[in-house]
Amino acid sequence: METTTNAPKKRILSCIQPSGIPTLGNYLGALKNWKTLADEFDGAFAVADLHAITVRQDPAQFRKQISDVLALLLAIGLDPEKSILFIQSQVPAHSQLAWILNCYTQFGEMSRMTQFKDKSQSHADNVNVGLFAYPVLMAADILLYQADLVPVGADQKQHLEIARDIAQRFNTLYSPTFTVPEPYIGKQGARVMSLQDPLKKMSKSDPNPKSYISVFDAPDVISKKIKSAVTDSEGSVRFADGKEGINNLMGIYACCTGLTNAQIEADFAGKGYGDFKAAVAEAVIEELRPVRERYTQYSTDKAYLKEVAAQGAERASRVANRTLGKVMKKIGFVLP
Ligand code: TRP
Repeated sequence: METTTNAPKKRILSCIQPSGIPTLGNYLGALKNWKTLADEFDGAFAVADLHAITVRQDPAQFRKQISDVLALLLAIGLDPEKSILFIQSQVPAHSQLAWILNCYTQFGEMSRMTQFKDKSQSHADNVNVGLFAYPVLMAADILLYQADLVPVGADQKQHLEIARDIAQRFNTLYSPTFTVPEPYIGKQGARVMSLQDPLKKMSKSDPNPKSYISVFDAPDVISKKIKSAVTDSEGSVRFADGKEGINNLMGIYACCTGLTNAQIEADFAGKGYGDFKAAVAEAVIEELRPVRERYTQYSTDKAYLKEVAAQGAERASRVANRTLGKVMKKIGFVLP
């Protein structure tokens, strides 16, 4: 006799901003896991283009980046039939709920957001209200889909906390409306550091392109960048304090191969950094190869991308509008 459980799968939601080509760090730290999560949970994944206009974007380039990131979501293996893949601005409920939630969020709470404080220093010439309210839009993204889980990196943890606070506040003020989301902490929390300064996170906005690997870098470029990665003068492949460059390469290698640090140390005992770097480069190249190949295929198929976006927006809107309708009703808006 077979017993089947029809318990609904938990919903997981995440978004990526279309601001430049993601790095190996973005890939190993987040995107690679999305594929696994999409298999296990009920997934919704979006291109967060509304978030991206808190900094000025060149229209032609912006349009290209949005469609490129959608192609990238397909390239990492997300299936638009299984998960909801969409472009945030194509689902008006995000902007609508964000406005409403702005009115349930305090100025003081937003002023304490460390990312706002950092960004208002680094873009002192354009500290717009959108940058300030950014976490509220992110809360809307999450709460509209009644997400149970949100995979977040360290830099977004505070924003998820706020989304939880806003949800709880609204639920208490009215009646249960929003699922209160939990952070999803992945098993392999790869934090990939700059190849040139392993004390800093790998970043695509680093002025030195040798410090980061882009997910679309060609194999020879990847090899060169890893070869010139900063290490130390000890010459032995082992994970230890003060060996941040090697620790970082070991982390990358472990993430691509599934090996543990102990196995890596054993494999490279008595070998030099040259051998190790060659192996790391090879592993990264093989890891990114299928992504790059599929991306090349999808990014040039404009008709298909348009169809994926349209279908995604429709499915997303159905879920999002249900939540938005509930919210509006509870507040006392007159529904059409
Ligand atoms: N702010 C996130 C980032 O920059 C992107 C994002 C927007 C997001 N909305 C979200 C992430 C909702 C998780 C859930 O990385």
